[in-house]
Amino acid sequence: MSVKKAMVIGAGQMGGGIAQIMAAAGIETYLNDINLEIVNNRIQFIEKLLSKDVAKGKITEEQKDKTLSLLLPSENLEDAADCDIVVEAIVENMDIKSSTFQKLDFICKPSCILASNTSSLPITEIAAVTGRPDRVIGMHFMNPVPVMKLVEIIRGLATSDETYEAVRDLSVELNKTPVEVRDVPGFVSNRVLQMMINEAIYCLYEGVASVEDIDAVMKLGMNHPMGPLQLADFIGLDTVLAIMEVMYEGYADCKYRPCPLLRQYVKAGWLGKKAGRGFYTYE
Ligand code: CAA
Ligand code: NAD
Repeated sequence: MSVKKAMVIGAGQMGGGIAQIMAAAGIETYLNDINLEIVNNRIQFIEKLLSKDVAKGKITEEQKDKTLSLLLPSENLEDAADCDIVVEAIVENMDIKSSTFQKLDFICKPSCILASNTSSLPITEIAAVTGRPDRVIGMHFMNPVPVMKLVEIIRGLATSDETYEAVRDLSVELNKTPVEVRDVPGFVSNRVLQMMINEAIYCLYEGVASVEDIDAVMKLGMNHPMGPLQLADFIGLDTVLAIMEVMYEGYADCKYRPCPLLRQYVKAGWLGKKAGRGFYTYE
């Protein structure tokens, strides 16, 4: 299957990045969110990133203009009617994702693939609310999308070989390296990563070291590009907590228990970089 037209739902940090690389690959791409103000702000952000790439000589002015011309702002899910694939990148919440997939199932043409960028939620369960579970799949990009090479591809119980192959080929077309992972809570990426982040939050909670020193240990001691607390802020603490909750419930194992300090920060609205405050403060 060749993808000519796509929709990305959720113009947050992930959806914006996914739409950007799809448009850069020549795919006409709707970027959808609950209102156009959010979408247009994200497109302005993408324009700034592309201008930086032009200044660095990584792309030409023409390539930047072409990419922007292929990004179509949308506030109506109905725009997905003629799309070949929809990639959902909204909040990490099963009820909200399921209701979106139910609507998409009615709107989209039968051949359209419905993919989710979920970090941890079961693809099989999302697929089950649709009448096309064979065409539902997990397409898990990493943040920041234009930079990170990996896409985890997660097949639900009913996902067909044809759907898997189409999404694997699309990932390669988008210059990513796909890795197939079974449909388990948190997949591989977050099953490993979030345990480190949660443990770092426990270290802070127990007064083992300061925010800066915990991050320094992992940056200087393990050569990680960001410390775990800075990375948690970058991902979004609401997303980190949602992933931990999915794994805690999904594996029914106390080793996945989210740190109480993480819950408290989320309740306070300290969601990390996107909220201006998390473990660090941002302008
Ligand atoms: N969007 C697009 N490009 C970005 C970007 C963004 N938000 N942030 C940085 N970049 C680009 C910069 O433009 C720059 O590009 P060039 O090489 O062409 O100049 C490049 O990334 C490096 O940026 P900087 O020099 O400004 O900063 P840096 O060297 O500190 O790198 C980083 C920034 C790439 C984010 C790096 O700190 C890093 O790799 N951090 C870890 C990221 C990570 O672990 N991601 C996975 C998160 S978990 C996940 O995604 C799964 C989940 O479900 C939660
Ligand atoms: P975000 O908070 O930056 O953005 C979410 C966007 O979705 C917001 O703009 C919001 O307005 C929009 N939205 C919410 N409900 C919607 C609806 N019903 N219809 C249309 N738009 C809606 O979140 P994010 O960090 O981009 O994460 C999005 C998804 O990607 C989540 O499932 C998350 O787990 C996953 N993910 C996140 C990361 C990360 O590092 N943040 C990495 C990989 C995957």
